[in-house]
Amino acid sequence: MTVLPTLKAFRPQSLQAIKPLVLKIDYSQISSPCYVIDEERFRSNLLLIRNVADVSGTEIILAFKGFAMWGVFPILREYINGASASSPDEARLCFEEIGALAHTYSPVYKEADFESILKYSSHVTFNSLAQYHKYSTVLSNYQRKISPGLRINPEFSEIDHDIYNPCSPGSRLGITADDLIRKGMPEEIEGLHFHVLFESDSYALEKILEVVQLKFGKFFHRLEWINLGGGHLMTRKGYNTDHLVKILTRFRESSGLSLILEPGSAFAWETGELVSNVEDIVENKGIRTAILDVSFTAHMPDCLEMPYKPKIIGATDPIPGKPTYRLGGNSCLSGDFMGDWSFDNELNPGDRIIFLDMIHYTMVKTTTFNGVHHPSIGIWTRDNKFRLIKEFGYDDYKNRLS
Ligand SMILES: Cc1ncc(COP(=O)(O)O)c(C=O)c1O
Repeated sequence: MTVLPTLKAFRPQSLQAIKPLVLKIDYSQISSPCYVIDEERFRSNLLLIRNVADVSGTEIILAFKGFAMWGVFPILREYINGASASSPDEARLCFEEIGALAHTYSPVYKEADFESILKYSSHVTFNSLAQYHKYSTVLSNYQRKISPGLRINPEFSEIDHDIYNPCSPGSRLGITADDLIRKGMPEEIEGLHFHVLFESDSYALEKILEVVQLKFGKFFHRLEWINLGGGHLMTRKGYNTDHLVKILTRFRESSGLSLILEPGSAFAWETGELVSNVEDIVENKGIRTAILDVSFTAHMPDCLEMPYKPKIIGATDPIPGKPTYRLGGNSCLSGDFMGDWSFDNELNPGDRIIFLDMIHYTMVKTTTFNGVHHPSIGIWTRDNKFRLIKEFGYDDYKNRLS
């Protein structure tokens, strides 16, 4: 692993001040549509994250599933030297563009992929004991030491959106404490991994650490590391980073384990925008829709999945008497719209609509989320033969991002 240079001394009380959300971009210079990241805001997130890592003695790595814009990794590498991967393609991207082996976890590993997973990973976490046992021999016989871990399900999460809750009843993600005790912890396992937070504060982490200690603490003396997953939104305004540092330090000391955090959103939080244009205005039964040159389903899928209403520069929630519009995407999905926003002036074709905070969980979802392989495309011909028309590989994943 590359050793990073020491940053300037950490002063907890100055951390909040590190992050001013100042929009200095001249959007008129950018042709639409475009995701644009602001280097200054990005660096201020990175500085904060690096400081938390240094002072708490924690390894903080980037979860590619949330942000994998490798065109800016030369900047990222000044602060952070690791990443977590969810697929062979993400692991390879980590190796090529971060210059480190990945901490890899996937709900399932395919046999055809496992050699690449080993090649590009330093840590490999398994979602079930069956998956661990399937690959344990090949992993322990590998030419280089790889640290095996298990994903646990602490059955406790405060996430209220079920689509993001890995502990919802019947969840396929991770092994419960009961299951692990009943089936037995394999001797070779060196670490545990959990991910149960979503845009959370340090107080939510504190609660989950208590639960993990209670349910899985009995295994700690046999282990080396614990990965606390993502969802730590330490770069959000008002996040109590002093408290985070305190609980991380306490947990590290009491558990005797090395701590790893793998946030995604926190790295790119509020670092950039999606620049779009109004192309047309249509009206139906008194509802006016500005049709854009971007799509909610194709370019901002979380808005529809979660759902959440993004912020737009110069727009507010509807105010009676002000020009008010729905914004419609340029795809043909009927539901590819969101509403409503009020503006100071009527909208016209050619006007700019700038969506705020559109860097994390946007670009990654417009491509191959988690680096999962796109299914191949083929045809079953009339003479009963399969003809493969296109197969997707690492280059397709990598080259669509940056
Ligand atoms: C296993 C795992 N680690 C890390 C993350 C990153 O979470 P976030 O971007 O909310 O910090 C996720 C997000 O889904 C995840 O599933």
